[in-house]
Amino acid sequence: MSLEAKRVVVALLSFMFLGALLIVAWVEGGKQRIAPAPDIAVSADNQGCVQCHTQSTPSIVKQWEGSHHASLGVGCLECHRAEEDDIDAFRHEGQVIATIVTPGDCASCHADIVEEFSNSHHASAGNILGSLDNVLGEIIEGMPAAANGCLQCHGSKVAFDYDNQGEIRRGPSGAPKFDIATWPNTGIGRINLDGTLGTCSACHSRHSFSTEVSRQPDNCGKCHMGPDHPQIEIYNESKHGIAFRAQIDEMALDSDDWVVGVDYTAAPTCATCHMSATRDLPITHDPGKRLTWTLRPPVSTRMEDWQTKKIDMLSVCNSCHSQAFTTSWYEQYDSAVELYNRKFAEPGVAIMKALKENELISPDPFDEHIEWIWFEVWHHEGRRARHGASMQGPDYTQWHGFYEVAKHFYFKFLPEARELAEGNAAAEAVIEEALSGADHAWLGGLDDATKSQVRDFYKSRYDQEH
Ligand code: HEC
Ligand code: HEC
Ligand code: HEC
Ligand code: HEC
Ligand code: HEC
Ligand code: HEC
Ligand code: HEC
Ligand code: HEC
Repeated sequence: MSLEAKRVVVALLSFMFLGALLIVAWVEGGKQRIAPAPDIAVSADNQGCVQCHTQSTPSIVKQWEGSHHASLGVGCLECHRAEEDDIDAFRHEGQVIATIVTPGDCASCHADIVEEFSNSHHASAGNILGSLDNVLGEIIEGMPAAANGCLQCHGSKVAFDYDNQGEIRRGPSGAPKFDIATWPNTGIGRINLDGTLGTCSACHSRHSFSTEVSRQPDNCGKCHMGPDHPQIEIYNESKHGIAFRAQIDEMALDSDDWVVGVDYTAAPTCATCHMSATRDLPITHDPGKRLTWTLRPPVSTRMEDWQTKKIDMLSVCNSCHSQAFTTSWYEQYDSAVELYNRKFAEPGVAIMKALKENELISPDPFDEHIEWIWFEVWHHEGRRARHGASMQGPDYTQWHGFYEVAKHFYFKFLPEARELAEGNAAAEAVIEEALSGADHAWLGGLDDATKSQVRDFYKSRYDQEH
């Protein structure tokens, strides 16, 4: 933490009273005192907040009491304090506060982390307006679908709720109300009223803000799951996920330092590989720093400066595996991405382009059946094949991945493309060209040796034809 931040904390500590004496509250109805947590330090400014909120929002106070922050004197106001002229500030029990705490507020003590996070793809995940997915979510499905779906992962653009006079609506506490399409929301790239991007509580659940929670794979799994990016499912089926769950007691998840190969060795979690420290690397809040490919677009491309990024990821892997093992594994993975690119993605992109250029389909997305077929081939199935290979989930690579890609490429996409192209020489030529390579030679029929091999396999195993 910065010097400036240290000063803030030291100043706070000097204002502290012993929380044990102060956090005393009568629980309504129960007539029973809530025991104060032993090692909490509450500054004078925060006494009111803590005392009163022990009744109005008891769990928030409890979660905060258990936090590292509470033991260091970082109280409610250190995060919720606002300036009089902040756009979302309101007067509350003698203090000026804001409800939404942004990375800008955390930056007063965690400046380096906020800067690193702000330069990551996570922070810009709210900028999805121009994407095909967004046409689906906001237009074809409808705005409330996007507000409760897409934006809860990607982040909303926070806005106020206005009445007919153009005034901001306010709740009983005087707090401004927010447009329900935009808040509550802890999407990872939320666009905040103060111009900052993202939410730290996407991973650091409030109000414990514990690293223990953020190191858990399920923490990432809120967003990294489902048909188009099933990272948590892949992890769970991988040897790494199995080793993690079987040996969770050996993971030292609550340790202050958490260096792989030093503080724990049983298994890597998502955080281990993408964010946490190794013997050579510090923690990073930019999970793109260790990736060589981007697996999101129809055709995968190399990340900028990917050779350096690979060295960083190898620093993780080689905390547990040998150099020879991980180098070979990378070749195995690269070969899967290259196969997908060459055999399915590049031909698919070329064919879709030809259909559009020859006006056989309209320039609008999703108004023709073939656009839905192609979208699912690359956006769902093609990603699953690549994601499965990248994180050792063989079932996702194969049955949820390449199998679906092959089936739908050959038996949905191509027949539909051929029908649309019929009679258009230019488009027909593109389709034939796309299928001319050795990868697609099997369409002309298998050779006799392969055919008899297949027949003999079923005969010898089950004594029947396949
Ligand atoms: C005398 C009691 C009292 C005190 C003191 C108090 N609060 Fe509150 N606060 C409340 C109540 C009641 C609510 C409304 C709770 C609800 O809506 O369930 C509230 C709401 C809030 C909200 C949410 C506002 C919204 O609706 O968006 C925040 C944030 C908050 N308080 C923070 C603080 C902080 C920080 C302090 C210390 C400066 C503080 N409170 C002091 C009683 C209090
Ligand atoms: C480390 C910073 C931090 C501290 C300390 C902190 N808060 Fe918060 N608080 C947040 C963040 C972040 C949010 C989430 C706001 C959002 O993005 O919607 C939040 C949200 C809230 C909310 C509204 C959301 C809800 O779940 O109801 C209330 C009320 C609140 N805090 C009260 C408190 C009180 C009372 C304390 C002290 C006991 C406190 N906070 C301490 C960061 C903090
Ligand atoms: C007034 C200063 C201050 C503010 C504001 C603040 N923190 Fe902290 N935070 C600290 C200090 C001091 C520590 C302990 C030293 C460290 O780990 O850097 C800490 C520790 C943490 C930790 C590690 C906790 C653990 O379990 O070890 C997390 C996570 C964290 N802060 C997140 C946040 C987030 C997110 C915000 C904004 C919503 C925030 N902090 C706002 C001072 C602050
Ligand atoms: C369950 C959380 C979740 C939901 C819901 C969700 N996404 Fe995503 N989205 C993600 C994640 C995680 C990624 C990154 C996947 C990866 O890197 O493999 C992503 C990737 C994307 C990308 C690719 C960004 C790039 O850099 O290429 C776009 C665009 C996108 N989503 C838009 C949307 C839209 C629009 C919706 C709603 C129709 C939506 N998403 C719904 C979590 C979600
Ligand atoms: C994608 C999830 C994610 C997001 C978003 C995130 N963090 Fe973290 N953060 C982590 C993980 C995981 C760790 C634990 C790393 C470790 O100890 O191996 C961590 C650790 C920390 C720590 C403790 C660092 C230390 O040296 O021990 C602080 C402080 C922190 N984060 C602050 C923030 C702040 C501030 C933000 C918002 C700008 C933020 N984090 C956003 C996942 C996240
Ligand atoms: C609240 C939702 C959310 C959570 C939680 C989340 N992510 Fe993400 N993540 C996303 C979205 C959305 C994207 C895609 C951003 C884009 O391309 O616009 C993404 C992208 C990524 C990327 C690709 C980065 C790049 O530069 O290409 C990695 C790696 C990643 N996340 C890892 C993690 C890990 C590890 C965790 C948990 C510690 C985590 N994420 C938690 C939503 C989330
Ligand atoms: C053993 C280390 C390891 C673990 C554990 C791990 N990953 Fe990965 N992850 C990787 C590697 C390696 C890649 C591919 C990197 C490359 O292309 O060079 C990757 C790729 C990714 C990507 C990029 C996908 C894209 O579309 O470009 C995301 C997002 C991601 N992982 C998220 C996660 C999440 C979430 C978890 C936990 C559920 C997780 N990872 C667990 C090593 C790991
Ligand atoms: C914290 C230690 C640790 C880290 C870090 C780690 N692994 Fe592993 N890995 C394991 C363990 C444990 C196994 C299971 C060994 C077994 O079952 O015999 C394993 C198994 C594997 C397997 C075999 C998968 C299978 O299904 O048989 C591959 C491949 C692999 N790891 C690759 C990687 C790569 C690549 C990285 C870095 C991106 C990595 N590992 C990082 C501990 C780790």
